[in-house]
Amino acid sequence: MSFKIAIDGPAGAGKSTIAKAIAKILNIEYLDTGAMYRAVAFKAIQLGIDLHDEEKFSFVNDTEIDFINGRLHLDGNDINDLIRTKEIGDGASLVSTYRVVREKLVSEQRKMSEAKSVILDGRDIGTVVFPNAELKIYLIASVEVRAERRFKEREEKGNNPFTMEETIEEIKARDLQDSTRAISPLKKAADAVEVDTSNMSIDAVIQEIVRLVTERGLKMEDVKIDVKNEEKVEESTLENEENVEEAQTSEDVQEEAQEAPAEAEQEAQEEKALPTLKELQLVEGTVKETIPAESEKKDKEGNVVKKAKEARVLIQLDDGNEGYLFKKDVPGINSDEDLFDEFIEGDRVRLIVKKVYNDGGKVILSASLVEKRDNLSKFEEVIKNHGTFKAKVVKAIQVGLILEYDGYSCLLPTTQVAANEEELASLVNTEMEVAPIRVDYNRIRLIVSQKVANAIESRAAKDEFLKKIKLNDVYEGTVKNIESYGAFIDLGEGVEGLLHISEVEHNRIVKIEKVLKVGDKVQVKVIKLDDEGHIGLSRKALLPNYWKDFIDASEVGQVVKGTATEINNAGVVVALTDQIQGFLPKSEVSWNKDQAIENVVELNSEVEAKIIELDLNKKRVILSAKQMTENPWETLSLKAGDEIQCKVLKVTEDGVKFLSNGVTGFLPKVNYGEKTEFAEGEEFSAKVRIFDASKNKLSVSMREPKPRAERENRKPNNEVNKMLKNQDKIGSTFGDFINLDDYK
Ligand code: DC
Repeated sequence: MSFKIAIDGPAGAGKSTIAKAIAKILNIEYLDTGAMYRAVAFKAIQLGIDLHDEEKFSFVNDTEIDFINGRLHLDGNDINDLIRTKEIGDGASLVSTYRVVREKLVSEQRKMSEAKSVILDGRDIGTVVFPNAELKIYLIASVEVRAERRFKEREEKGNNPFTMEETIEEIKARDLQDSTRAISPLKKAADAVEVDTSNMSIDAVIQEIVRLVTERGLKMEDVKIDVKNEEKVEESTLENEENVEEAQTSEDVQEEAQEAPAEAEQEAQEEKALPTLKELQLVEGTVKETIPAESEKKDKEGNVVKKAKEARVLIQLDDGNEGYLFKKDVPGINSDEDLFDEFIEGDRVRLIVKKVYNDGGKVILSASLVEKRDNLSKFEEVIKNHGTFKAKVVKAIQVGLILEYDGYSCLLPTTQVAANEEELASLVNTEMEVAPIRVDYNRIRLIVSQKVANAIESRAAKDEFLKKIKLNDVYEGTVKNIESYGAFIDLGEGVEGLLHISEVEHNRIVKIEKVLKVGDKVQVKVIKLDDEGHIGLSRKALLPNYWKDFIDASEVGQVVKGTATEINNAGVVVALTDQIQGFLPKSEVSWNKDQAIENVVELNSEVEAKIIELDLNKKRVILSAKQMTENPWETLSLKAGDEIQCKVLKVTEDGVKFLSNGVTGFLPKVNYGEKTEFAEGEEFSAKVRIFDASKNKLSVSMREPKPRAERENRKPNNEVNKMLKNQDKIGSTFGDFINLDDYK
């Protein structure tokens, strides 16, 4: 299975240098996502587009951005060396805030990384591009350190037009832009490991990340570890292990050393050859002599002066040294067989140096160890297949534990033990599940890791769990981390899914934190699954959908009852159930357009109304109260002079608004007659002056009509007549006119 390593962090933290090096060590691909944003800025500049004009950036959808042999190509042209300028960097930072650009590039980045192990660096890799990345690193460094690095880099290239102060400002501006933008701002993912590179060398950062990679079992993928670099890491993890005697593989070397010295010493004295060989070194040489076992040597008195010696072969090593190979170090030879059967003078042999004497005595060689060393290669397969085994802890040493498995010594460095350092000694004689992480041919042993074994186990559990997940499955998960666009939910075994903000509730929500917080248990349904292991979740799918249920069960024209919970200028909010609110627009309250809502509907009172619109998408139930009755304007028939009963609705400066026979009307002040005071709710009778149902107009008068003669006397001149006609337009009342001097 492929894995992703996400390296995010601010400009100048060293992301690309580190990511490139790690990619090389792990022999996986590296994807420089920043370069892709730079390519977009580059193209926009080439096209003469104003970088601030977001609307012009749809060209990205017809743009090809590719890496060919690690070099950035834009629409087929290699622009790798043209995008590292400050202008393009600033441009990239700006255009990376545009949705159209981000969506396109994020989708490209996912495509480019599909089905392979990739290390990506950028700003949103761990949070957006690969929120399930197996390892997330958040690389930071102080502004000053980053500015200094950038400054030096430019100096080295010989094109630095900026001062140190300007560079600091540039870095600060870039940080601000990258971390405050609305979409996918630069942010540490909750599960990212923060590495502050301010005071670290590049090598130290690389080592630390390789350690994290190893710890997660990722290097156990089908990748080749670069031996040179791996060696470096090993050196650091094993620290002063070189000095630790206990780490030796062959326990009986010591024993043997006791056996041979006398003669060896003597010969060494003669030859004065200082050893240039190292113990456990693989050497080649030629059989010089096969020496039979000696029987006891006795003196004249018959006393034994020298003990019998084992049969051995004297080997002339290619480097000039000589060594002995004893019978017990030859594999597959029976006690009754002789070394003569196996070795003839002049034979070429591969042997392992078992013991070296500081005084230059002949070294002790072993053929059994060669076989053992060669057999070590079987563990390469185990490593490749993510294998683990149970090994017995033999002893605790300064740098960790020595275990034994299948006759091999296994070094478990402290950094690879899952237990506390203090507990190491108590682990002796117990069995422990470990994973081989390196075959050490030089020392004929294995380097093993308990942490990797645990990681393999949990990876296996995770993979197993992932395999079981199906669309529509329901899980109880835990909120791991909340982003503006959604929450990451841990479904178990480290498998996380994304609960997009639109899937939290049926109602639209703006902030997830209002509904969920980190650590909350939440029931979710799997609504999306892809080959990359991305899991899309929905919470709302499991919640009762009150709106849908209500709308499905209702129809336009149906009469419903509810409570007026809010009255505002636009109308009345009517609670139809605990979850569903309908809306009664002002125009639907009464057939009388000029009637105040409060005159018809009281706050918190029951409202009976007809549904006139249902819209599930907009979650809308529109009501009408007026349609509960017939339009009184259509049924009422009045003519001028009819006497009608009226009830005062409102007294204004100009007259009285009233209700009569279900319709509203007006009694202008000029038509008051005898009665001049009116109170709200008071009833009175008046005579219809104007009734125009088509215009919803009813005007009444309480004035006694003057006798005809009187009226005829009052022939207004033409001018007054005109004014009277204009009465409405100029807003004066008849009363104003009768004060006119020429009319007295
Ligand atoms: O890493 P860089 O300096 O080459 O990136 C240039 C700009 O691109 C950076 O200021 C922000 C943006 N960017 C991004 O928004 N998301 C990424 N994954 C990578 C870069």
